[in-house]
Amino acid sequence: MSLTAIIGGTGLTRLTQLEIQRREAPATPYGAPSSALTFGRLARRDFVFLARHGDPHTIPPHRINYRANLWALKQAGAEAVIAAAAVGGIGRDMGPGRLAIPHQIIDYTWGRASTFFEDGLDHVTHIDFTAPYNEHLRQRLIASARAAGLSVVDGGVYGCTQGPRLETAAEIARMERDGCDLVGMTGMPEAALARELELPYAACAIVANWAAGKSEGEITLAEIERHLARGMADFIELLICFAGSP
Ligand code: HPA
Repeated sequence: MSLTAIIGGTGLTRLTQLEIQRREAPATPYGAPSSALTFGRLARRDFVFLARHGDPHTIPPHRINYRANLWALKQAGAEAVIAAAAVGGIGRDMGPGRLAIPHQIIDYTWGRASTFFEDGLDHVTHIDFTAPYNEHLRQRLIASARAAGLSVVDGGVYGCTQGPRLETAAEIARMERDGCDLVGMTGMPEAALARELELPYAACAIVANWAAGKSEGEITLAEIERHLARGMADFIELLICFAGSP
């Protein structure tokens, strides 16, 4: 039976629905992953869960060891990766509480260790990244959301910012002109590293707030937490359907 990895983001530090079998804290050539790996079952499917920001949630987006995380999941035998991603909504239909399965990425991050292909190479490697998310896995996530009775947006351009601060209104206006529908801080280099390891990867974006300048007033942590709690509950429903699907 194949093993599916879940990377939990802000609002999803533990996957309490898993029937836990074991935990492992693997070493990798890149150091330790953000958290121990939790192996378990959900609806008779095998999963391995990793908390992207650590457990407890203490690692900010720019300090996450993305290489160790992806390496550890690959080494554990994962055959696909589903990433949960808290985001701000930019596009008109991306209001708080929305679930979206993005299809494209624009990377605005800098200074992150973003490739496995840099040291000790016998040839320079350029992965194809035209479609950053695995289309088959994306469609399975969309079908699972619909089977769970959830409304989900098929597609969206995810803009990945450096953080940990939120964006200015002008930065969001520029991202909108660039074509971004969603803004988050952790989608890259995660997606690219998964591709380098030939791990099919797709994300479920959970909209926590309107992005800067898209609604009146400041963005508050209380607002983010409130919408994320609801969105993550929906994401779990999606996962349960995914786990039960053939
Ligand atoms: N910007 C970037 N990342 C985020 C946001 C946001 O507004 N909300 C949740 N993650």
